Amino acid sequence: MSKKFLAVAASLALVAGLTACGGDSSASGGGADGGITMGFAQVGAESGWRTANTKSIQESAKEAGITLKFSDAQQKQENQIKAIRSYIQQKVDVIAFSPVVETGWDAVLLEAKRANVPVILTDRAVDSDDTSLYKTFLGSDFVEEGKKAGEWLVKDSQGKSEVNVVELQGTTGAAPAIDRQEGFAEAIKAAPQIKVIASQTGDFTRSGGKQVMEAFLKSNPKIDVVYAHNDDMGLGAIEAIEAAGKKPGVDIKLITVDAVRDGMQALADGKINFIVECNPLLGPQLMELAKKVVNGEQVPPRVVTEETTFTQEQAKAELPNRKY
Ligand code: AHR
Repeated sequence: MSKKFLAVAASLALVAGLTACGGDSSASGGGADGGITMGFAQVGAESGWRTANTKSIQESAKEAGITLKFSDAQQKQENQIKAIRSYIQQKVDVIAFSPVVETGWDAVLLEAKRANVPVILTDRAVDSDDTSLYKTFLGSDFVEEGKKAGEWLVKDSQGKSEVNVVELQGTTGAAPAIDRQEGFAEAIKAAPQIKVIASQTGDFTRSGGKQVMEAFLKSNPKIDVVYAHNDDMGLGAIEAIEAAGKKPGVDIKLITVDAVRDGMQALADGKINFIVECNPLLGPQLMELAKKVVNGEQVPPRVVTEETTFTQEQAKAELPNRKY
């Protein structure tokens, strides 16, 4: 397939995405008809977490009576910027988005501010000195998630003289990749026998996790632990470990982040050893914040999602209730 064809197909997909869940493109709610229109620029569909997050946003918008214009950026910043610009042109009442990477947003966010379209960050943060470019940020504390992963490993490594860790990082430049690495590194300082011997991005996807783990297994004769920044990469790593004739969870321990159903199943089956939860069900809180922002009410600058952790035993108990 030619590059030109792929580029045309990609932009058609983006336009289709932009209108897929939208109502009347001329609707500018909060206004005349009293309805609110939200433009939402999603990262993509890279993981089970993301699928659950998208579903939560679409369902919550419906329940809240908010017209949702939804776009899928296929993990590309330029697609998210195009989508945001299009929402500004369409004069939506509020824009919400989960930035694929942390930097490079100031120009488009300034355009939104000048056009008086308020912006809410959800799931991931931007790295900007100008906090007036968005109204609030709703999402997890990713540094804390990394710390919880590291603290579990510190306890599990007591009495061991050497623990070699390989790290499967999320998308390069994305807030959860940067912060989960930082939190984990901070926590393992308490146990000098733990060493991160290799660290590479698997882009938050199952195939990425599998591919990187295959390479890690070839070049590192002694791997004790995999720390994967999400369940999907951990599940890919499990495939690679099994293909190499080793037992995940026993020969090589795994720590992951998210706690989506497939991850929890692998934890209950003994193939993952510990999962730090990252809650994707942000829809209801996002819609509440959006209504307040559009009505000019005060909102807190930061809303942190509540989360827990799961051991293998806890996963067995939780699995029947898991919604995603
Ligand atoms: O930003 C949240 C992260 O993005 C989730 O942990 C991961 O699964 C997703 O792709």
